[in-house]
Amino acid sequence: MSATDAATIAKQQVARAAIARVQSGTVVGLGSGSTAAFAIQYLGERLQSGDLKDIVGVPTSFQSEVLAKQYGIPLATPNDVDRIHVAIDGADEVDPAKNLIKGGGAAHTREKIVDCLADEFIVVVDGSKMVDKLGTTFLLPVEVLPQALAPVTRAIAAMGGQPTLRMAVKKAGPVVTDQGNLVLDVKFDNGIDDPAALELALNNIPGVLENGLFIGVADVILIGEIVDGQPQVREA
Ligand code: A5P
Repeated sequence: MSATDAATIAKQQVARAAIARVQSGTVVGLGSGSTAAFAIQYLGERLQSGDLKDIVGVPTSFQSEVLAKQYGIPLATPNDVDRIHVAIDGADEVDPAKNLIKGGGAAHTREKIVDCLADEFIVVVDGSKMVDKLGTTFLLPVEVLPQALAPVTRAIAAMGGQPTLRMAVKKAGPVVTDQGNLVLDVKFDNGIDDPAALELALNNIPGVLENGLFIGVADVILIGEIVDGQPQVREA
């Protein structure tokens, strides 16, 4: 089994385990990214088979909205629902306190709205996402209003971060988020010492929409791994 195959199988396995926990008659937050995409597919399959009934999905991105429509999942926005029973979403890093970095797909602003609203937020990751300290393997995404790019870049540098504007692939120019904004990926030498303080400090810079630190939001971390050639899911 190649490393790529193993990672995909781990993502599929963990997504299936999370969707197995969804009950009929609930509102489900639909995450973004490659692992959440498998979860949306499996949720759609359970609906179509009749195994689940009366599900409403709340997408966190254009990606998850398109996928959910493809799989026949009825959709709503956070404005339409009184509560979200469970949200299932991926992450880029997970620390031992269940704090996260998200935003590798530039969807963290809407993801934070939906994941924070959920009664239960289940994170689905493969084992490579587990870290001892946030910011050591992944840069921290910050969504920024285009008009404020220069002052926000300077403010983050003054806080000790090294921001880089995220550039698009197969499109000239920067990544533009679903909301029409830009993303700075910020490196912190030696990782992030105080994630809770940094989350607040970054969001306090005028022009910052949201950053990818999810502190105290995750309830359950499901980790997909291949052990002795066999896919397994464990809970952290
Ligand atoms: C989207 O902006 C992200 O927060 C994703 O949830 C995160 O990047 C995990 O994506 P993968 O499941 O593709 O690794």
